[in-house]
Amino acid sequence: MPRPATLSNSSPSFGAPVRAAFSLQRDYTHLNHGSYGATPVSVMAAQRIWQDKLELEPSRFMRRDYKPGMRAAIAALAPRLGVGSEGLALVENATQAVNAVLRELDLPAGSDVLITDQTYGAVKNAARHMSARNGWNLRSVTLPFPAASADEIIAAYSAALDPAPALVILDHITSPTALVLPLREMAEAARARGALVLVDGAHAPGMLDLDLSAIPCDWYTGNLHKWMFTPKGCGFLWTAEVQRATTHPLAISHWYQQGYDAEFEYVGTRDASSQLCLQSALDFIDAHGQDAIRAYNTALANEAADALAARWGTERGAGQELTGHMVMVRLPDGFGSTREEAEALRDRLTDEFRIQIPINPLTGTLWCRLSAQIYNEMADYERLAGAVERLAG
Ligand SMILES: Cc1ncc(COP(=O)(O)O)c(C=O)c1O
Repeated sequence: MPRPATLSNSSPSFGAPVRAAFSLQRDYTHLNHGSYGATPVSVMAAQRIWQDKLELEPSRFMRRDYKPGMRAAIAALAPRLGVGSEGLALVENATQAVNAVLRELDLPAGSDVLITDQTYGAVKNAARHMSARNGWNLRSVTLPFPAASADEIIAAYSAALDPAPALVILDHITSPTALVLPLREMAEAARARGALVLVDGAHAPGMLDLDLSAIPCDWYTGNLHKWMFTPKGCGFLWTAEVQRATTHPLAISHWYQQGYDAEFEYVGTRDASSQLCLQSALDFIDAHGQDAIRAYNTALANEAADALAARWGTERGAGQELTGHMVMVRLPDGFGSTREEAEALRDRLTDEFRIQIPINPLTGTLWCRLSAQIYNEMADYERLAGAVERLAG
């Protein structure tokens, strides 16, 4: 679907009118959907029904309702990812999925594992831990930022594939820099050199029109609690057929050796309501229209980034080609350049102006990461601009 250049052809019901559908505190400006998502009230009500069902009759629920509930949730999700139910497991989050994959990898000591300088911190730590434990050689490639084009990213990445790594961990959408990476081309380049490919697509479900069958990878994990409106604790791990027999959940439990799908389905007694209520999140999306949500969020992110960069005389972290529903904008000079200064500014925006937005130190200065979700509108970013200007002055 072509991306709209402006908000004018988007749904008039988004922005302030839809805010009541979420529990978000009214007197805050929420510009950080990317980190933790936000769950609609209707989805939280559906989650509560699942929790009530469990507590009403725990034994019956666990013996009779749990498995069909999980299977129905997976079956509802699969077509939205372009795959079948087999090999698609629900997990708590992307961090657990990455850890599960890395824990089972049987690579000889001395194998090269390639990440990037924009790999998510928790994933980087998991790779560091398993590399130290197994004697793997962890390498990192620096990706261009600000990023001019997909071609520039592919060129930088391809150059780092020599010597060939045994495993690459690739982001679909980067966390510290909010770039939608040219994943298919990067994964193809890694595969061509014989590498296993693990994709961290934490931000992609909902934001991008995913077709996992077209991405050459061994594992793909994504979160549904970010851009697909589920409660926290709902993500997935899709595993290519060739890897399923040797990929296991972090917690080995009762259904061990009963196949990939069964093993991931039951990982011990827990509250799985955030996964069981997945259909209600899909219903919320369908009620508003997945295409309409994507079009609005993408247009809003681009328009807000252009407006702020123009107002501050700065720049955005990437053009429309590499932008989804999040985008970096460089702050005016004078706020410093360190992680501590970034956190201090973030705290002042929260405490003094009630604005939630991540601030990252990059390129020797500070950048903010804007998120755009259907409850946002241009006035939210104008409030941010005003607050930054007051603090700068
Ligand atoms: C790229 C990326 N990977 C992984 C994660 C981890 O997500 P979770 O904490 O839900 O596991 C995040 C969270 O922001 C992320 O941005």
